[in-house]
Amino acid sequence: MESVLKGQIALITGASSGIGAGVAKSLAAAGATVVVNYPVEATKPAADDVLKEITDAGGTGIVAQCDVSKEDQVIKMFADVVAQFGTVDILINNAGLQRDAKFDEMTLDQWNTVINVNLTGQFLCAREAIREFLRRGPRPEVSVATGKIICMSSVHELIPWGGHVNYATSKGGIRMLMQSLAQEYGDRQIRVNSICPGAIQTPINRAAWETPQALNSLMTLIPYNRIGQPQDIGNLAVFLSSDLSDYITGASIFIDGGMTVFEGFSTNG
Ligand code: BGC
Repeated sequence: MESVLKGQIALITGASSGIGAGVAKSLAAAGATVVVNYPVEATKPAADDVLKEITDAGGTGIVAQCDVSKEDQVIKMFADVVAQFGTVDILINNAGLQRDAKFDEMTLDQWNTVINVNLTGQFLCAREAIREFLRRGPRPEVSVATGKIICMSSVHELIPWGGHVNYATSKGGIRMLMQSLAQEYGDRQIRVNSICPGAIQTPINRAAWETPQALNSLMTLIPYNRIGQPQDIGNLAVFLSSDLSDYITGASIFIDGGMTVFEGFSTNG
């Protein structure tokens, strides 16, 4: 799929670690110029490392600070990127976090932090991206679609998740955000889709893979019997950002080693 994104500008939120970092590397390898967004100053060194890996491999990009839950910062980041590169072609709405707690012990702060970043952050970034796509209009020299948005959802837009109600709620909301945008802007040739990862080996779910016992227990949920890697998600993000997927919009694509076929039912139920 080399160069399928040549000449396109891709902004990846939350790209200083985890899935976002993997997606940034994959999009850059496919020819996009990438904006590696990081949330706060403390994560700049990690973003710089991601960008260095990209440029060492022959790719191009910049790093950009912005807390996606803050409207003024989101507006400024998009304005800066448009000023520097002329436009944005692809938004990977990826930034997300967990603040886990039993529901009866969950604080309003834990609830708000997750909803603000995972859901309101996707609203704010999608709104700026769509404003830019509409302002700029088609760019047939780089893509059939006028713009592409990929929302990083989760298997938990489908699988309820006790102990993580704030997170599962944010992902359920992302499904309707994504589908409603695909419906509202399809006639402007803007494609909006979600990637729904299962267990991908990143810092967000370290507890699920860092000991052999934890990993064994995780495998009971994954028919394909391996944990996912950020590159698995990167490969799908390249496909969904490119014209290879031009007829796909409004779709949630699960990439989870089979987690959503509910392996527990293979011998039971
Ligand atoms: C969560 C991970 C979890 C995975 C599968 C993801 O959305 O962020 O912590 O391992 O879903 O349950």
